[in-house]
Amino acid sequence: MPADMRARLGQVELPNPVLAAAGCAGAGRELAQFLDVARVGAIISKSIMTEPRTGNPAPRLAETPSGLLNSVGLQGPGIDAFLQRDLPWLLSRGARVVVSVAGQTIREYAALASRLSDAAGVSAVEINLSCPNAEDAGRLFALDPATAGSVVAAVRGSLRHDIPVFAKLSPDVTDIVAMAGACVAAGADGLSLINVLLGMVIDPARLRPALAGAYGGLSGPAVRPVAVRCVWQVREAFPDVPIIGTGGVRTGRDALELLLAGASLVGVGTAIVHDPSACSRVARELEEEVGALGADQVADVIGQAHGARGRVGGGLVNGPGEASRQTG
Ligand code: DHB
Repeated sequence: MPADMRARLGQVELPNPVLAAAGCAGAGRELAQFLDVARVGAIISKSIMTEPRTGNPAPRLAETPSGLLNSVGLQGPGIDAFLQRDLPWLLSRGARVVVSVAGQTIREYAALASRLSDAAGVSAVEINLSCPNAEDAGRLFALDPATAGSVVAAVRGSLRHDIPVFAKLSPDVTDIVAMAGACVAAGADGLSLINVLLGMVIDPARLRPALAGAYGGLSGPAVRPVAVRCVWQVREAFPDVPIIGTGGVRTGRDALELLLAGASLVGVGTAIVHDPSACSRVARELEEEVGALGADQVADVIGQAHGARGRVGGGLVNGPGEASRQTG
């Protein structure tokens, strides 16, 4: 019998734990010619801000070994167009929607949260604390626990109580657990780990940085071990806090690795650039991986790489249901 792939995001049931990560799928419309958006676990929108933005000048993308460097600069239509056009489209197609929000000030984050409180059909809000390409790139909100906590508290305070809030953290910190703790203490219902790593490529032919903005965010398979490590550390410290594990997932096996480290949901981002159907493919492959482990449900593999609760002799230590309490 195929494994039960259902997952939870707060009160919402998802058909599977594989999500389109923020940024690589826009607001989902571009994916629709390649897959049924209703069958993706959920679509996390490209981070939305209050006003429309054209983003950074080109070139904004550079390929690196096993990775992609980007400096898009939060290009987007702004919250009004998102609510009028993108959100209704996604809901009309039967998708579950997580809205990623980004602000340049704490007040902007709070304003976005209030607007989303009035909208129907938002399954969760993801706070992008860690965009490397906003104008004020020197000041990532996710680099300082107190600042990150203030953003989370402002969003939580302005958002309808039944909408869970996930804080998306940057791996570019010395202590990801301290960042996670500050966000949880400030009211985050879950965490998204990880956003991009700040990187740079120099074009030797032009003797200049490859990106117009010089720095960019590194994503793709190159960052996956960093994501696994961050998920692992945060799961050890906060075993009951749901984690969306994101970072370089390209296959079902990659998704399984993040679940075993302690994520209850998995985001697929950069892989979508090469394979727009990646979310459905990864979900299918994950189902096979879970079945091969002898688990009846995907929820049973969550966190199984941690110590005594790990796998022995080809079976799973936890009985059905134990791990599922950790989901969403
Ligand atoms: C952008 C924002 C991000 O949070 C990220 O991880 C990468 C790029 C951007 O739009 O520039």
